[in-house]
Amino acid sequence: MSTNQEKRDDLQKRKQVAMAGGGEKAIAKQKESGKLTARERIDSILDPGSFQELDLFIQHSARDFGMEKKYLAGDGVVAGTGTVNGRPVCIYAQDFTVTGGSLGFMHAMKICKVMDHAINLQMPLIGINDSGGARIQEGVRALAGYGEIFYRNTKASGVIPQLSVILGPCAGGAVYSPALTDFVFVVDQVSKMFITGPEVIKSVLGEEISQEDLGGARTHAEITGNAHFYAKTEQECFAQIKELLGLIPHNNREKARAAEPVPPQTSYKIEDIIPDDVRKPYDVRHIIRAISDNSQFLEVQELFAPNIVVGFGRMNGQTVGFVANQPLVMAGVLDVDSSDKCARFIRYCDAFNIPLVTFVDLPGYLPGVDQEHAGVIRHGAKILYAYSEASVPKITVILRKAYGGGYIAMCSKHLHSDFVYAWPTAEIAVMGSAGAANIIFRKEIKESENPEATRAEKVAEYSGKFANPYVAASYGYVDAVIDPAETRQAVANALNLSLNKHVETPCRKHGLPPF
Ligand code: HXC
Repeated sequence: MSTNQEKRDDLQKRKQVAMAGGGEKAIAKQKESGKLTARERIDSILDPGSFQELDLFIQHSARDFGMEKKYLAGDGVVAGTGTVNGRPVCIYAQDFTVTGGSLGFMHAMKICKVMDHAINLQMPLIGINDSGGARIQEGVRALAGYGEIFYRNTKASGVIPQLSVILGPCAGGAVYSPALTDFVFVVDQVSKMFITGPEVIKSVLGEEISQEDLGGARTHAEITGNAHFYAKTEQECFAQIKELLGLIPHNNREKARAAEPVPPQTSYKIEDIIPDDVRKPYDVRHIIRAISDNSQFLEVQELFAPNIVVGFGRMNGQTVGFVANQPLVMAGVLDVDSSDKCARFIRYCDAFNIPLVTFVDLPGYLPGVDQEHAGVIRHGAKILYAYSEASVPKITVILRKAYGGGYIAMCSKHLHSDFVYAWPTAEIAVMGSAGAANIIFRKEIKESENPEATRAEKVAEYSGKFANPYVAASYGYVDAVIDPAETRQAVANALNLSLNKHVETPCRKHGLPPF
């Protein structure tokens, strides 16, 4: 019979073994490949000493291929609760040192337990992926485990923030859990995400491609749009996670925690940002920083579809979601990718009670066969749907061009924006003056003795009529034409007025957005 002390010593020994992961050799290999261990990652994200581990002693249930004799520390995943910025979160990290972090059924159940906690206790979920995928020896039990995770990802969607951090391989069906979550973080040279790896592609299609080009961090941040935050190092990635969690509400029943209001940095002179020449671009992020508290702006999907800019900042201490056309890239035109990026961000903000502030300067939707065939109608409609559906406060500032469908789509009065402001530089029209004059005065221009002079005259006539905000203002489509220097005050005031906004929605199970 053991004494109580012996039982306590035994517990410590068992803990030591379970916490040793895959052992010294595997840990050394993990380090050599430039990666932190699962426990180091959790410790780096959570407030010091706040981690409360769950299911340390979980064991796998595989009974084939000699697995019955194998002990897998923690079954290849470390899971539990902790705090970030003093607020509770649920977290798990796959441990690549234990059988490549592969996912067996009990491994999945351990993840599901923290997911259930996160949903029931209303706190964010952070999942760190570093895994060879479904544990091959477990067969369909591993697939069942993935299915249970996907089910919970979907159940948690719009209820609690879900963050996926890709810090190693994330291959095969494993990619679909991150894809179902709200924000995916990737790290240069560390993250690898793909459905089928380079070997399969080579054998099936005969094409050679490196893991990095196929599904590395840069690829997902820039080309596929699967990643929302890109970092050079794991530490930079952890800082991004903490900044994001400091800005967003931790569940859909609360508003984001307010911070002390801070004025923007004085280096941003809002009235000097837009050039006099309407054909010249400028960086719309300077306008966001010119009005946000302390000029803070956490950009989401910075490298993907950069013709639109989305991200979080604060106004008078309150978190807001900024959406802005980016004249620096393709004149800020809307296309398939920027529509997807924008619509998803709007829906995130709407689900989590974050007011939307939209800056408009775009020539419209991108024309062309490629875009039409890529489904710009279906994708473009997502923005209309997302803005129309959003019941959070919606504030719009038209800076310069607001042409055609782009004018309507970018949170116009017609999609029930609460407050629409326009700068005196705004041009609200069906299209640009040159294009418009060429179409409606084609005959006059063609028959004129001096077509170029007539064209210039007609362009000037059209532009004089519509290239301003006053026609729209005369119909009440613009609530106020404001001086650029008044923008922060106008937006902050509108946000204050909208604190108790409430919109009744029609009774239905759910709508059918065009996705
Ligand atoms: C069981 C696995 C495993 C897996 C890796 N290991 N992946 N064990 N099931 N899926 C084990 C290895 O056997 C090895 O064990 C240890 O983990 C480390 O793996 P290495 O290959 O030595 O590491 P590395 O060279 O870094 O290569 C990593 C890797 C590679 C690229 C991830 O291991 C790999 O290609 N694994 C298989 C990937 C895969 O095809 N997974 C199934 C996808 S299908 P020892 O004992 O030698 O240390 C899928 C379907 C899900 O996931 C569908 C859900 C809907």
